[in-house]
Amino acid sequence: MSKKILVLPGDGIGPEITAEAVKILNACREAGLDAELEEGLVGGAGFDAEGHPLPESTLEKAKAADAILLGAVGGPKWDTLEDLSKRPEKGLLGLRKNLNLFGNLRPALLYPQLAEASTLKPEVVSGLDIMIVRELTGGIYFGQPRGIEERDGERVGFNTYVYSESEIERIGRVAFEMAQKRGKKLCSVDKANVLEVTILWREVMNRLAPEYPDVELSHMYVDNAAMQLVRAPKQFDVVVTGNMFGDILSDAAAMLTGSIGMLPSASLNEKQQGMYEPCHGSAPDIAGQGLANPLATILSVAMMLRYSLGEPALADRIERAVGKVLDQGLRTADIAYPGTRQVSTSEMGDAVLAAFAES
Ligand code: IPM
Ligand code: MG
Repeated sequence: MSKKILVLPGDGIGPEITAEAVKILNACREAGLDAELEEGLVGGAGFDAEGHPLPESTLEKAKAADAILLGAVGGPKWDTLEDLSKRPEKGLLGLRKNLNLFGNLRPALLYPQLAEASTLKPEVVSGLDIMIVRELTGGIYFGQPRGIEERDGERVGFNTYVYSESEIERIGRVAFEMAQKRGKKLCSVDKANVLEVTILWREVMNRLAPEYPDVELSHMYVDNAAMQLVRAPKQFDVVVTGNMFGDILSDAAAMLTGSIGMLPSASLNEKQQGMYEPCHGSAPDIAGQGLANPLATILSVAMMLRYSLGEPALADRIERAVGKVLDQGLRTADIAYPGTRQVSTSEMGDAVLAAFAES
């Protein structure tokens, strides 16, 4: 049966980068992928058109889709919206929550061709291959109660950091299984020296460990993990952590690879339905100028083919095509350095397309 893919370009550079990824998706369809594409509005684009960052029609299409490709959301135009529930980011969070996309996979893989683009010394990052497994539908992002209210004559802001055992267990299993398929090392990141919720997190991870005897489980406090990521990142294979720590650590890990513009992500639920998006944001400062790097979004398509569409061979072809254009010395502005050839967003997309066609 034909698969349904929903494309949500969103805001800022979102439309430019998803356009390049759609070219590749269409090439995959020509190569035998049986899928239909549909478009929808999300984020600021949703708010402008329908008064809500996650219009009802978009949510309906998303629920019916096998996979969603999302560009990016947000921008200064909407940052002053008083009603937080109308901010573009809520569109993204609403999709994650409504589709129960709790398992967020954020690979930080250094292409050898880009070792020079990292701000860290090449010997520290060469060969880097980390998978961050971030819990995406719980923790402090969604905990209740939350708000800003008046107490004793002043305003107080508060959020709740909460995880149930079952939420920890299901993300733990995703991470252990990922480690089994990779280097068999899992580091669980918490703040169990201070926060009860992460004492429970650590307990549940330890309880799962005997079911995965081939995986070596370790624990690390989040502050130390941040330091170790920039000191000696190659010690990590799979990292599992909660929503907020994962948000922060995945940006740091992304930068090790030279540019956050290279990193894809997958957010999966129990049915392997998934939303695929680059790890970077909407970069409003460079939007519309052909400067954005489309590779993270193109690599997100590869993850989609692998995790939701059951087409690992096409995924491999896309990843090889990306490697090939990097070999050719083509670089968007974020990863360019002397001796390479700077190209625009669409030139990069076309180059990947050409390399894909040849493979
Ligand atoms: C991310 C982003 C989002 C998050 C924002 C845009 C809500 O930073 O996907 O990492 O915090 O999860
Ligand atoms: Mg983030």
